[in-house]
Amino acid sequence: MGEEKTDGTNQGGMFNDKSGKQLPLAMQYDYTNFYFGAGDDAFGMLDPFDEWWKDAKPSGYYLYSLPMQGSPATRVDVRNTKTGKVEGDLLNFASYNYLGLSYRPEVKEAVIEAVHRYGNGASGSPILSGSLEVHHELADLMAEFKGKEAVLLFPTGYSVNVGVIAGLMRSGDLIVADQYAHASLVDGMILSKANSRFFRHNKVDDLERKLKRYEGKKLVLIEGVYSMDGRRCARTRHRGGLPALRSADPDRRGSLNLHLRRERSWRCHQLGSL
Ligand SMILES: Cc1ncc(COP(=O)(O)O)c(C=O)c1O
Repeated sequence: MGEEKTDGTNQGGMFNDKSGKQLPLAMQYDYTNFYFGAGDDAFGMLDPFDEWWKDAKPSGYYLYSLPMQGSPATRVDVRNTKTGKVEGDLLNFASYNYLGLSYRPEVKEAVIEAVHRYGNGASGSPILSGSLEVHHELADLMAEFKGKEAVLLFPTGYSVNVGVIAGLMRSGDLIVADQYAHASLVDGMILSKANSRFFRHNKVDDLERKLKRYEGKKLVLIEGVYSMDGRRCARTRHRGGLPALRSADPDRRGSLNLHLRRERSWRCHQLGSL
């Protein structure tokens, strides 16, 4: 097995509950035990993981990728991977289909029409042949809708954050991110090779401290609403867009002078969410 848990009631190598009964394998470990693997073999963690997984999945400890039975509407039917039964009419808080656009009849019709014309995707990299006329039409329409010069399309929120951060920042620059920033922002930081620092969640004074005495190119990574805990960005005033970060210091009223410029920002889940 991977790294041993040290916080359980480990007696003689087994983990027991309070009454001394041995816990099922699925409960003795979690994903963190497999992070570093076991030994020098890059594939060495697969067997112990598999052993745990065989127990964890049917026991219902795997909570990801629950199979929905239809479109991501406000209520959904989902197959419970433990019991195999479909649980009906559950309230769906996990989707970002905020406006229900994905299943509107006109959207479905447009998708069907596009499939007839293009088949299933461009089958190429966008920098070479993988760009269809319909992508350019979408980018132009989005730019018009947002009142912007142009729009760059990415297939997921993850790829936006990784692409934009690594595209803007270089080794020697400074990125300061809220400690609860989405994993995609963190991956973008790593890929950019800039100096990366974190400030304590929503603590503007800590952010100020981390930015001090740095004269080079800086980027601050915050979220309007944090997907990690559902909180809004610290002391924000949403003025139809980027939250103005306000100083944590009650004597200093007004916005923090961070040059957080609306036209120089990007936001995930903004359109159609708040
Ligand atoms: C702030 C933030 N950034 C990025 C993402 C990633 O988006 P996607 O799942 O489309 O890759 C999410 C997803 O919820 C998010 O909340």
